[in-house]
Amino acid sequence: MEGVKAKIAPSMLSSDFANLASEAERMLQFGADWLHMDIMDGHFVPNLTIGAPVIQSLRKHTNAYLDCHLMVTNPLDYVEPLAKAGASGFTFHVEVSQEYWQELVQKIKSKGMTPGVALRPGTPVEQVFPLVEAEVPVELVLVMTVEPGFGGQKFMPEMMDKVRVLREKYPSLDIEVDGGLGPTTIDVAASAGANCIVAGSSVFGAPSPRDVISILRKSVEGAQCKS
Ligand code: DX5
Ligand code: ZN
Repeated sequence: MEGVKAKIAPSMLSSDFANLASEAERMLQFGADWLHMDIMDGHFVPNLTIGAPVIQSLRKHTNAYLDCHLMVTNPLDYVEPLAKAGASGFTFHVEVSQEYWQELVQKIKSKGMTPGVALRPGTPVEQVFPLVEAEVPVELVLVMTVEPGFGGQKFMPEMMDKVRVLREKYPSLDIEVDGGLGPTTIDVAASAGANCIVAGSSVFGAPSPRDVISILRKSVEGAQCKS
């Protein structure tokens, strides 16, 4: 497999939000590539987290790639504020953007962010094909491996069929998995072809987050050597 680097992205949803800057710094020192930022609106999902003001505050403390996952009903409204706040990646859900994803992707790119598309467990993978194949394409597909909304849920291995289909079709696409990833579930995701790994509770809840990040990375790199 070529062109897809392993990217380990601790989900800051599992961090101590009251100490976000130091939590972020700690994860980067432990070897994280990206910081995964879960933005929820209490409507698309039954939970409410952070928005542009918090991204802006964090940006003042770090140069890290802020991988923003928008679990919101109206992602178009978030492009401008998040770009100003210093977001790096902007991954929206396909379920809410059927009517206007072209406009959305173009806006995200024109603001200098990397566009990505996410899909809930119940959404067929075919729905994202047009977005990956568009003239202005998304550059990452996030396959949810739990129902979005909360950390600490159980990994759904049946989602790996989606990852396999995507990897087969798009060898150089960034494919991200999110939900329930950790040392016991990474191998199946890595061998299916995922290269961007979000992990919240397994990293923040570990006695040694550094070791967990390293296990996740080795699994992705090992699977790439075999393919
Ligand atoms: C859930 C979020 C995830 C979550 C993952 O809706 O998208 O990023 O923080 O947490 P874990 O790794 O604990 O399942
Ligand atoms: Zn997420």
